[in-house]
Amino acid sequence: MFDNDYGDDRLISSTKGEYDFEENVLRPKTMEEYIGQDKVKENLSVFMAAAKRRGEALDHVLLYGPPGLGKTTLAHIVANTMGTQIKLTSGPAIERSGDLAAILTNLNEGDILFIDEIHRLNRSVEEILYSAMEDYALDIIVGKGPSARNIRFSLKKFTLIGATTRAGMLSSPLRDRFGIICRLDMYTPDELKRIVARSARTLGISLEEEGGFEIAKRSRGTPRIANRLLKRVRDFSAVSGSGSVSLGDARRALEKLEIDELGLDGTDRSILHAIIEKFGGGPVGLDTLAATINEDVNTIEDVYEPYLLQLGFLARTPRGRVCLKGGYEHMGATMPEPLKKQLSVFDE
Ligand code: ADE
Repeated sequence: MFDNDYGDDRLISSTKGEYDFEENVLRPKTMEEYIGQDKVKENLSVFMAAAKRRGEALDHVLLYGPPGLGKTTLAHIVANTMGTQIKLTSGPAIERSGDLAAILTNLNEGDILFIDEIHRLNRSVEEILYSAMEDYALDIIVGKGPSARNIRFSLKKFTLIGATTRAGMLSSPLRDRFGIICRLDMYTPDELKRIVARSARTLGISLEEEGGFEIAKRSRGTPRIANRLLKRVRDFSAVSGSGSVSLGDARRALEKLEIDELGLDGTDRSILHAIIEKFGGGPVGLDTLAATINEDVNTIEDVYEPYLLQLGFLARTPRGRVCLKGGYEHMGATMPEPLKKQLSVFDE
């Protein structure tokens, strides 16, 4: 539905792509079905129950975190729980303030407006949102120069759910207008195992527990990747004829897909390899790194880095990215002594 920046369908990319046409089928519809993100679920459930009791629209919600963790799914669940309609759009899709004005005037009381990649709204569009969020009003300037007038239209009380991979890129006036701010964390292998098992049941795939856990461990904490890998592993398993996905099937398939035991793919390994071999372990600036491995800067920052940071393989320093001890070990390389001393602050 949304165009993504990355424009790719790699298994690891964790942005939406053509692999994910079944994503809607797999989406849990209620908080009870939604696995993981316990704190977010708990808080949202309280805020929704309270808003319902008061007979009011839910306060505006900002969901942030790496791609593929279930921000859109949560927005659907909120709409479902509140018993309201949801309208989905994205920052880059709203080009002019008139486009946003048209969307806002068509919302009914309590409706949810979901704006994905909200950090990519342009300035003039974003400014329309301020009074819409705060006063449920649309301020339109008519005319130019001394005869310009401000006309205010009132809007129905709606809920904006904004999603972003970069909370830091939101302007403070916009961020301050969200009453509820939730950070989504990467999932544990155990949670992903339950998600994969649920998806297998929904898709009618016979999956052995160890096979599911293997997929979970290699899904870099991301349900979208876990579901994608499940489907690809199923294909390998169907061709080899075993009928159900075993640990061996999962391992063989993931090896063929060049996804290693921690879920790293070729691009992750090129990032680590470049920092180690070409830049002596770093620090190296993101632009230089991206140019060296011929990858898009945003893709590295949104898709690859979060997991490498989470693993403790990479660190961001004011002077650039550095490869840490774990990254060296994973790549079978030895960290130079001077770098070891310099980076000892990152060791736990
Ligand atoms: N599918 C994708 N994300 C999920 C989640 N958090 N819980 C259950 N199923 C999912």
